[in-house]
Amino acid sequence: MSAVVVRGLGVTIDGAVVLRDVDLDVAGGTWLGVLGPNGAGKTTLVRALSGTVRHAGTVAIGGDVDRRPAARARRLAVVPQTPVIPPGITAFEYVLLGRTPHQGLRLSASLDDRRRSLGVLQRLELERFASRDLGTLSGGERQRVVLARALVSDAPVLVLDEPTAALDLGHQFGILELLAELQRERGLTIVATLHDLAMAGQFGDRLAVLSEGRLVAEGTPAEVLTPATIGRWWGVDATTTVDADGRVDVTVRRRAADGAGRATTPTSGPEGRRSGSVVARGEGFEPPAA
Ligand SMILES: Nc1ncnc2c1ncn2[C@@H]1O[C@H](COP(=O)(O)OP(=O)(O)O)[C@@H](O)[C@H]1O
Ligand SMILES: [Mg+2]
Repeated sequence: MSAVVVRGLGVTIDGAVVLRDVDLDVAGGTWLGVLGPNGAGKTTLVRALSGTVRHAGTVAIGGDVDRRPAARARRLAVVPQTPVIPPGITAFEYVLLGRTPHQGLRLSASLDDRRRSLGVLQRLELERFASRDLGTLSGGERQRVVLARALVSDAPVLVLDEPTAALDLGHQFGILELLAELQRERGLTIVATLHDLAMAGQFGDRLAVLSEGRLVAEGTPAEVLTPATIGRWWGVDATTTVDADGRVDVTVRRRAADGAGRATTPTSGPEGRRSGSVVARGEGFEPPAA
């Protein structure tokens, strides 16, 4: 069953069309990576999913089209790219805010809310930061706390906007591996915008590409991340390798100064590849439209 169904989604801001006619289906328990150049509309898509931007068309989460904030927040949790962090708040207090959609008319957190918050902090190995001012944590630690706040809502769909953008390589993998574990453990459905094609090729079950507000490609990583599409939508020269399990390695190469591309003497492929892999090179490359 589809956990997320988007039909005819359109967003216009100040007279400018930011998203146009987007249709998407995300199967329950799968990970959709949303790619696209800067300004393509990825963050606007996240906001439309979370119900925080006016839009045309429908967004159904778990079969429900209710846009009211508390109803939506129980079905879908969001990790924004730049979360608003109240000054002086501790990590525990911040995670507890993730229970708000369940508090209804209660004005304060219950014992159960506190127990669940501590449980998620423990699961993400963050207990030692519970009473720390969130502003004093490193970027990687803070990102895990923001993820904890989203998880404590117990929403079955998790939407993340460039969750690794501010992190070094090791911490990028750390966050994405953690998401993959949670996907397996909890059957979470994940929609994550990603700017890093190499990461997208490793973690997404399916990938969608936005360009100028339109959905221009959708499919498995092997279908979407080809040298031709990468050349077309990002304007760079890449090689890709598809493993037997469908993960795609993307290598981006510098072009020669004359723009003709570097020497591309085909080799038998990098050492250590699993058998059955397919190496695609830049044939079919099309320069981006001017
Ligand atoms: N509040 C806004 N006011 C005006 N333009 C906006 C607003 N939000 C987004 N846009 C425009 O919409 C386009 C898509 O933005 P965004 O969704 O942030 O793209 P992405 O996340 O893919 O970089 C950009 O051209 C951006 O300038
Ligand atoms: Mg964005």
